[in-house]
Amino acid sequence: MLGWDALYEACKNCRNCDLADTRHNVVFGEGARDSEVMFIGEGPGEQEDLTGRPFVGRAGQLLDDMLSMIDLRRERVFIGNIVKCRPPGNRDPLNIEQEACIGYLRNQVALLRPKIIVCLGRVSAMKLIREDFKITREHGQWTEKAGVWMTATYHPAALLRDPGKRPDSFADLRALRAKIREVCDHTY
Ligand code: URA
Repeated sequence: MLGWDALYEACKNCRNCDLADTRHNVVFGEGARDSEVMFIGEGPGEQEDLTGRPFVGRAGQLLDDMLSMIDLRRERVFIGNIVKCRPPGNRDPLNIEQEACIGYLRNQVALLRPKIIVCLGRVSAMKLIREDFKITREHGQWTEKAGVWMTATYHPAALLRDPGKRPDSFADLRALRAKIREVCDHTY
């Protein structure tokens, strides 16, 4: 297991898969390195690729709004992705790309030791919770895995495409707020 600085360097220089050929920047993830709460998306989009920061495009602005609805600020949590380089044209990351990258996320989880992991969207939930996870049916449900409370909610990009999902997403966020009160030591 690498420490934060060595892990950051390893990601920055990574050539484990073909996404390295088309990326502008590796998106390592950011936030508080002592956070008990982690949000995991699927992979960088265009703005993230250009800036090297997670969730800074339109979906990212909505994520910030979602966090503020439950009095969370992005600086206080950790925000990362399943893959750290942008899949061209924002396609879903291929399994081979996810596999090439997942070790970095595992290392981040091992360093952070979060109490709660929130998967943002289907791809993240299928990788981290269960291969056959159905986001429409199972969003907002909680399961404990290796001492970490895990849940998934809709990806903010899905909420931009279909605002009808927003009430469900808000209910998931309220449940997240309750879970934070229940299991976290820090106040958020
Ligand atoms: N979508 C994601 O899944 N991750 C980002 O960082 C940005 C958009």
